[in-house]
Parts: sequence; structure tokens; C-alpha cells
Amino acid sequence: MNMYDSSRMVDILTPLGYKVAPSPEDADMVILNTCHIRAKAAEKVYSELGRLRSYHAEKAKQGERMIIAVAGCVAQAEGEEIIKRAPMVDMVFGPQTYHRLPEMIAKAHRVSGQKLFDIDFPEENKFDHITHRHSQSAVTAFLTIQEGCDKFCTFCVVPYTRGAEMSRPINAIIEEAKGLVANGVREITLLGQNVNAYHGAAPSNVGTTGKTEWGLGRLIYELAEIDGLARIRYTTSHPKDMDDELIAAHGNVSALMPYLHLPVQSGSDKILKAMNRRHTIATYFDIVDRLRKVRPDLSLTSDFIIGFPGETDADFADTLSLISKVGFAGSFSFKYSPRPGTPAALSAETVAEAVKTDRLETVQQLLASQQDAFNRQHIGQTLPVLLEKSGRNAGQLVGRSPWLQPVHIDGDRQAIGQIVSCNVTHIHAHSLFGTMVGEQNHQRSERVYA
Ligand code: 5AD
Ligand code: SF4
Repeated sequence: MNMYDSSRMVDILTPLGYKVAPSPEDADMVILNTCHIRAKAAEKVYSELGRLRSYHAEKAKQGERMIIAVAGCVAQAEGEEIIKRAPMVDMVFGPQTYHRLPEMIAKAHRVSGQKLFDIDFPEENKFDHITHRHSQSAVTAFLTIQEGCDKFCTFCVVPYTRGAEMSRPINAIIEEAKGLVANGVREITLLGQNVNAYHGAAPSNVGTTGKTEWGLGRLIYELAEIDGLARIRYTTSHPKDMDDELIAAHGNVSALMPYLHLPVQSGSDKILKAMNRRHTIATYFDIVDRLRKVRPDLSLTSDFIIGFPGETDADFADTLSLISKVGFAGSFSFKYSPRPGTPAALSAETVAEAVKTDRLETVQQLLASQQDAFNRQHIGQTLPVLLEKSGRNAGQLVGRSPWLQPVHIDGDRQAIGQIVSCNVTHIHAHSLFGTMVGEQNHQRSERVYA
């Protein structure tokens, strides 16, 4: 989401004459777009600001000015604190107000020394103020369809930093997607903090169902109609919002890739309840079964929080057991990080740091071995690979398999943007390596289902 937001900031700043600088040393303005999800991510902001201090001073010595802005969720949550700890910061703005950047920059130039804050959840919608310039030609793109969250998991800051859940209207999304495809994009990843809670206003002139709002499943069917859009993905989903229409779309829409990030966080019902996740382990297994029934080659990934308050050895063993039963293609796992203002942070039942460290290591070993086994099974297979860019070595191209694995192939730059058949010869780290065995004819999709 932050990558998407940063690209929109580039879109807003381009008409003002700004260009992306290759490095911060000599930039006229540096914007740190920040994440507040765990303490480690938030702390990074202060170390980055420390790094910028010398560049800022160097510019001042030459009689020039470097505007420094902190954007995103750390700005939203810790605005005043940032200025206190780093007085050279000129602007602090939250994730919902970056469309006001031109005003803020103009103000910063007019009144030197004044600190500018913009951390509301404004009535106006930032998406109505941003023209997609599609400045960077790319094969894959993100597209935000939903923002914010009303779930209030007890460990999570998102509902406080990104605000209440909101969905963009269908028409605006289709229009943005068409613009991306016209510019050469072949794969779109739909984004939202809680992307499958999506319920956007239906187009007034389409739809025989008479529904005034469409869910994510319906939106995916509509996007799959766009000529030239070969691949669709979405992230991040909540198990509670995996409805029938969305599950069915996985079976019916060949452009919807067989790869789903569906965080479960823990394998213990007791911990899920304490996390306010609003579903049980049985529901999670049921969703996985239904998805695999309609799309047998679907692979899953998840997030896990290790050492949530009250997590016992038995709860942790349940998490390991869930992982063994589901078989993930890769996952993220984190030590629980108490976040100020969240209910779980008030809990007295903390898990000792050493226990968290041990458990994290165990879970990461298991997840790594599953990821390795998943990658290994593709050796000798022929996969459709969407070529995205040149590789590090001359004559090498890098693309992605349907399961988001990076694939390295020898080939001509002109093939970038095409889906080619690749015979996988070996793997290294998390990447597949192979040889091109033919171009695919599919403009729209890679597999056709009966
Ligand atoms: N501590 C540790 N991990 C967290 N996440 C969210 N909040 C916390 C926290 N307080 C993890 C969850 C989520 C992912 C984006 O970050 O696993 O799915
Ligand atoms: Fe945070 Fe996701 Fe829970 Fe929302 S659903 S509160 S974003 S973890």
C-alpha cells in the first residue's frame, strides 16, 4: 500500500516540476513514507531521519533548502513526537491527505520554519484528487480498491492509522485498471488493508442483479473482461470476508492467479479469540478446503504473530500443527510487538522475549522448509511466466510464475511483458531458473477452465 501511495505522490508532484531523484543526497525534497505496524518499522523512521541530517546540513551550507516530509502511518500516529525528535522535519502528513501536497509545499516555501501538519481523516476522498499519470511503464501494477479497517484486531494499529473501512466505486477502479493496461500493464494486484471486505458502489448502467454494491468477487469478474489484462491478484484478505462469490471466482476466472495470501495469525482458537479475529481454526480449514476444491493448484501464504499475550506452549504447538496441515508456499512471521493504543498492549500476560525468539525460530524453520518443498516441486515442470524486467546478468530476464515465484530465464528484452512457457531446471534461494520453451498465445489468460 505504501508503494502505491508513493507512486501517487509522484503523480501529484510531477506537474509541479519534481522528478524522482536517484538518491537523497542532493534532493530538494525527501518524503519518508512510513509504516507503523510494528515497533521495528516505526523506529526505522528515526534512523532514516538521522541519516538525512548530514545531507540537509550540506544543502544548507550551499544556501539551498531540502524540504523533509514524513508521510504515512507513523506521521499519523506520532506527528508531534517526530518534530520533537527531528526538528529539521518540515511536514508531517497522514495516509489520507497526501493529495494536499502541492498546498503544503507552497506553504513550506512561503513560511520557512513553520511546521506543517495534516493528519486528518478528511471528508473529501484523496482518490478524487489524483490523476494517474502512468509515468513509469511497468508490466505489473498495484491498484488500491479499499482502505482502512473496521475489524479492530486487538494487536493492530491499522484501524487507528488508516481509519475506517472505505471502498472505491467500481467505475473508478475499472477506469484506473483500463488506463494501466493501455499503458502496458499485464498484471494488476488489487490492494486493501482488508481487501476482501470490499463493497464498492456498483456502476449505475451495468448489472442485472440490481445490487447497488458489488463485492470483490464481482469486481474480479468485471476486471477479467479487460482485454490485455492477463493476471489479477489481490491482497490482503481476512478469512471472515472470504464469501461464496469470491471463492467461486477462484474457480471461474482464469486470470485470477492461484495464489492467495490469507493470514491466520495463530493456530489456537483461544489466541484467535483474544486477538478478536472473529473466526475459528475450523472456519479457516473450511475456507482452504473450499478454495482448493474449485482451484486445486491454489497455493496459500499467511502471516503469523508469535508470542501474543497468553500464548502457551500448547497454543504455539497448535500453530505448528495448523502450518503442517495446510502446507504454505511461504509466509511471514513476526514476534508480537505491543503497539501503543491497542487493547492487547494493555495485557499483563506477556510472553518472555527468549521464548518468543525460540518460537519464532522454530516456526520460521518450518515455514522455510515448506516454501523450499513448494519451490522444488516445480523443477522439471513447464510454467507460464510473465516477464517483468531485465535480470542482473546480461541476456537474463526476470518474471513471475502464477504463484509469484521469481523466475530467471535467458531471453531478449523485447519479450518483457509477454507470458512465456518456461521449463524449470533448478532453484536457488527463493528463485526458479529455467529455459524458455515457447511463447504463449494467451493474451487474456493462461489457463482455460471448463
Ligand atoms: N505485532 C506483530 N505483528 C503484527 N502484525 C500486525 N500488528 C502486529 C503487531 N502488533 C502483523 C500481522 C499482520 C501483518 C501485516 O503484520 O501478522 O497480518
Ligand atoms: Fe489489522 Fe488486518 Fe485486523 Fe484490520 S483485519 S485490524 S488490518 S490485522
